[in-house]
Amino acid sequence: MVSVEQLDGGLIEVTARLPRLAAAAVPGQFAQLRCGDHGGPLLRRPFSVAWTESQTCSFVFEVVGEGTRLLAELTAGDVLDSLGPLGRGFSVDAARGEVVCVSGGLGCAPFPLLVRSLRSRGVRDIIVLNGAASAERLYPADRFTRGDAGVGVVEATDDGSRGHHGFVTELLAPMVSSVTAVYACGPNAMLAAVATQVTGAGSPRVAEASLEAPMGCGFGTCLGCALPLRGDGRGPLWGLCCSDGPVLPLRSVDWAALLALPAADVA
Ligand SMILES: Cc1cc2nc3c(=O)[nH]c(=O)nc-3n(C[C@H](O)[C@H](O)[C@H](O)COP(=O)(O)OP(=O)(O)OC[C@H]3O[C@@H](n4cnc5c(N)ncnc54)[C@H](O)[C@@H]3O)c2cc1C
Ligand code: FES
Repeated sequence: MVSVEQLDGGLIEVTARLPRLAAAAVPGQFAQLRCGDHGGPLLRRPFSVAWTESQTCSFVFEVVGEGTRLLAELTAGDVLDSLGPLGRGFSVDAARGEVVCVSGGLGCAPFPLLVRSLRSRGVRDIIVLNGAASAERLYPADRFTRGDAGVGVVEATDDGSRGHHGFVTELLAPMVSSVTAVYACGPNAMLAAVATQVTGAGSPRVAEASLEAPMGCGFGTCLGCALPLRGDGRGPLWGLCCSDGPVLPLRSVDWAALLALPAADVA
């Protein structure tokens, strides 16, 4: 059973009855979703698990191609075929006191589940810095907070139509030295800017990002999702987004090499 909710700005939230995925997924993990029936794309498409209830999982996306178009056309009686949970999620055990989540555009997807997990582990204050191109493209603040007073959302838009006028990373600078953990998800250029802020003295003990790469299998066999990681000075090492990630320490990624890849911001 599936429900499809149209949010502002072309964002879509699909919720489906997936009891095993709901029971097993941890924040930052993803599922490979089959899009359409046998006439749809051969390869499944990867999506972060955005929210779980006892029997259901939700995913947030926008239509960018054939697979997401077919997902958006699901109706109540349809079954969503998923493979997962896959990949490594966020480290939540070392977070204490205050933490910050930095979300850019559809990078919002893993944060509702992460916020719930952190609060259930006793993290006192969580600030979600939520950035998007414009007000209508912002994922709704109440989907991060779910009525929890310990969670605050501060918004930024590139065009200044709501919140801070500018990049969401500009909001991070004043708070980065006072939090125990920074979690980020968004375009690679945004993640690289966050990585710059979390290196050096006084930086938080946990600094992680959920990354994306074009994916085939989703579990480490096709080698299609390689990401450049920091090597030994003679060039990058390569890791697999699907099985070494998608969540990686920000300090472990070779951001210059990643941004130089032709398809660096495909996903
Ligand atoms: C681990 C992981 C988690 C992900 N989680 C999410 C999520 O929670 N929500 C979400 O919306 N997306 C997420 N993505 C990206 C998502 O998988 C792609 O948007 C999806 O595979 C596109 O499939 P498609 O068949 O619709 O488009 P395709 O036909 O594969 O591509 C159509 C066109 O869109 C471009 N394109 C592909 N992906 C994107 C993108 N993300 N943004 C802009 N252009 C794109 C392609 O380059 C191509 O030109 C995730 C990716 C990874 C690797
Ligand atoms: S998607 Fe196949 S190895 Fe990562």
